[in-house]
Amino acid sequence: MLKIAVLASGGGTNLQSIIDSIDAGNLNCKIEMVIGSKDEIFALERAKKKGIKTYVVSKKEYKDTTCDKILELTKGKVDLIVLAGYLSILQGNILKEFKNKIINIHPSLIPSFCGPRMYGLKVHEAVINSGVRYSGCTVHFVNEEVDGGAIILQEVVPVYFEDTKEILQKRVLEKEHKLLPKAIDLISKNKVEIINGKTRIK
Ligand code: GRF
Repeated sequence: MLKIAVLASGGGTNLQSIIDSIDAGNLNCKIEMVIGSKDEIFALERAKKKGIKTYVVSKKEYKDTTCDKILELTKGKVDLIVLAGYLSILQGNILKEFKNKIINIHPSLIPSFCGPRMYGLKVHEAVINSGVRYSGCTVHFVNEEVDGGAIILQEVVPVYFEDTKEILQKRVLEKEHKLLPKAIDLISKNKVEIINGKTRIK
């Protein structure tokens, strides 16, 4: 069974969608651990409630060694690292050790509205200000380039003139909660192949 580590920085609704999919029998994997980027985040409460091991690896405490600490906790223990609302950028050895084994969910249609400093409500605000008619979410592999790894799955939502960034965020989040478990399911079934920087779903 695929063993995963989930990294989170906030409320953890995406983590919850993974937990719920496993509980419903729709996802055959085990969450070995949840790593939070700070103490007080609700994602850690969600994990503890399910009896999942939790760790806090904060930038404040670990500074430049944050990614190495995460690598120390995960190496040999999990097959896949899932960034579910994790706000820091992974760098260094962890990207080599877990090459094509780290995925992220981003709340826009990559390659639009992504990259450094594009996270949370800022993404939805930029989408609304641009006047585009569609937004969505993307699950992708993580590499050295922020939001630049091979795209696994995307889902589209409409953007309406009256939307606020909060309303759009909610509409996108509903899709995220289906897309992330689906991507993990495909990986667990060995159905995601990377060819020349693009993925093919077998
Ligand atoms: C989600 O929109 C996710 O795409 C982004 O951060 C948000 C976190 O939501 N990376 P949650 O913590 O999973 O509720």
